[in-house]
Amino acid sequence: MNYTRRHLWLGWWSLFGFLMLGLALELLHGFKAGLYLDVQNETRRLMWTLAHAHGALLGLVHIAFALSLPHLPSLDAPGRLRTSWCLIGASVLLPGGFFAGGLRVYGGDPGPGIVLAPIGATSLLIAVFLAARASGSAEVPRTPGNKRG
Ligand code: HEM
Repeated sequence: MNYTRRHLWLGWWSLFGFLMLGLALELLHGFKAGLYLDVQNETRRLMWTLAHAHGALLGLVHIAFALSLPHLPSLDAPGRLRTSWCLIGASVLLPGGFFAGGLRVYGGDPGPGIVLAPIGATSLLIAVFLAARASGSAEVPRTPGNKRG
């Protein structure tokens, strides 16, 4: 499995998808859509803004992970597999949970889809922990301008 290619692809496409969600939110503002802007729908606006922001940032995390992989030799095959799936789970469940939570709101409370968000957050924490642990022995190639490597 080429994890660099997988996460570059996932990262750029999820960034594109969640920026499109940002554009959709912009349009809801432009058309003064009540389902998004009315005071009783404040929770929906918060949920969908959180979906947009977390989805876009997670896209950047996929790209950062893809670019880090060649420098993380201590992340062995099972470690790569685990980190990769935790990141994928996070970028589906965290923004997906926020978005689903905003589809139907109950006063100040989001809908039941919000339960996915903490599962996604846990998945992200595990992925970041695994990558952070492997970064202790990162290998950075020596270049003429970077004598310490
Ligand atoms: C990497 C790029 C981006 C990131 C990390 C990002 C992140 C965020 C964050 C953190 C917020 C919440 C701000 C707050 O409420 O204080 C936000 C709101 C918003 N973003 Fe983005 N954004 C990005 C790109 C875009 C793009 C390209 C668009 C539109 C085409 C967009 C449209 C919006 C809109 C309309 C809101 C306000 C939603 C509302 O309050 O109703 N964003 N974004």
